[in-house]
Amino acid sequence: MLTDPELRAALRPFAWNQSQITDCSHLVVMLRRRSITAADADQLIAVTASRRGIDPTQLATYREMIQRDLIDGPRSQTIGTWSSNQVYIALGNLLTCAALLELDTCPIEGFSPPDFDRILGLENTPFQSSVVCACGYRSADDKYATLAKVRYEAADLIEHR
Ligand SMILES: Cc1cc2nc3c(=O)[nH]c(=O)nc-3n(C[C@H](O)[C@H](O)[C@H](O)COP(=O)(O)O)c2cc1C
Repeated sequence: MLTDPELRAALRPFAWNQSQITDCSHLVVMLRRRSITAADADQLIAVTASRRGIDPTQLATYREMIQRDLIDGPRSQTIGTWSSNQVYIALGNLLTCAALLELDTCPIEGFSPPDFDRILGLENTPFQSSVVCACGYRSADDKYATLAKVRYEAADLIEHR
C-alpha cells in the first residue's frame, strides 16, 4: 500500500503517466512470487501445525506434495503465472469489498513491472509487482463516474447445459 507522494510520483512515468497513480488516496501494488522455495514450504507447514495444534510431522505428506509439485516439479517453472492467478483472486475481492464500502477502485495493468520493481526495491527479493489498484473516495468532478456502465447480458456470458 503506497501513500508516499514522492514514491508515487517516481512510479507514475512507468504507468503510462496515468493520473490515478498520484491522485488516488491509496495505491495498492499487488505482488506475486517469483518462486516457491523449501523455506517457504517449511514456513507454511510450521504455521499450519502451530495454528492447528498438531505436530509438523503429521503434515509430511502434504509437505512432500508441495516439494514434488511446486518446488521440484514442472509447475516450478511457471510459479510467476500460478502466483499471479492467486493475486487476481485477491484483486477481485479488493474490488468487491471496496465497492461495498462505497470506495472506488481502478485495477491497473498499464504499468511496467520491471520499472516498478526497480523503484520499489523488489529486485533480488522473492516478490515482483503483478497488478496495481488505485483506491479512494470518488472525486466530485470525475467525468467517468456518470457514464453508463457497460455490462453484457447474463445470457450472453453464461451457458447452461
Ligand atoms: C486487470 C485490469 C487492468 C486494467 N488496467 C487499466 C489501466 O491500466 N488503466 C485504466 O485506466 N484502466 C484499466 N483497467 C480498466 C478499469 O480499471 C476498469 O475496468 C474500467 O474503467 C471499467 O470499469 P467499470 O465498468 O466497472 O466502470 C483495467 C481493468 C482490469 C480488469
